[in-house]
Amino acid sequence: MHYFPIYNKWFNAYRNKEIVFVEIGVWNGGSVQMWKNYFGSKAKIIGIDINENCRQFADDQITIEIGSQSDPEFWNQFKKKYPRVDILLDDGGHTMDQQIITFKEMFPHIQDGGLYFCEDCHTSYWGEWEGGLHKPDTYIEFTKNLIDELNAFHTQGQLEPTYNTLNMGGIHFYDSIVIIEKNLIPFKPFHLIVGETTI
Ligand SMILES: C[S@@+](CC[C@H](N)C(=O)[O-])C[C@H]1O[C@@H](n2cnc3c(N)ncnc32)[C@H](O)[C@@H]1O
Repeated sequence: MHYFPIYNKWFNAYRNKEIVFVEIGVWNGGSVQMWKNYFGSKAKIIGIDINENCRQFADDQITIEIGSQSDPEFWNQFKKKYPRVDILLDDGGHTMDQQIITFKEMFPHIQDGGLYFCEDCHTSYWGEWEGGLHKPDTYIEFTKNLIDELNAFHTQGQLEPTYNTLNMGGIHFYDSIVIIEKNLIPFKPFHLIVGETTI
């Protein structure tokens, strides 16, 4: 239940706008209906699931795509078909590979000003999901490393700035949720002026 205030804090600004909202993980269709009602009639909702039965949850505003979030070829086709995505919510299989591959494939595809949202990240701590505290290659460790990537210009050459350095507006951690803002940062690289000294 603690997800709902977080959803509302971040998604409220996108309500009643012409956005494309993608959710991975359709299951019984409840959440795609909820997003349709929440975002309003101008929003296009795209649900992705590996289970063919989920096609039944398509309607005038909801499109269902069948494929695996851990398959880069699925994402290649998806990106060609849907050139615009404003918000992506990953509520799919919750394994480390699935979450990391999805981020790598889809973060660059999010519109400037959009959001990349991954929930149920507690699987990063659960052995049954390939997780474990401080275990390298979990989604939580992956996103902790993104903090350094965000700050790459300040690492005195220790980290090369990347696409993410220039396009992550901010990274926000909640219990079980990581949200990454997609914002081109036009003033990077920059100089930090401290008193008379440029560093
Ligand atoms: C937690 S449920 C989604 C719940 C739904 N978002 C809701 O709130 O009602 C997870 C869903 O992810 C789907 N899934 C599992 N592995 C997947 C994969 N590799 N690619 C896409 N979907 C996957 C499952 O079939 C299942 O329907």
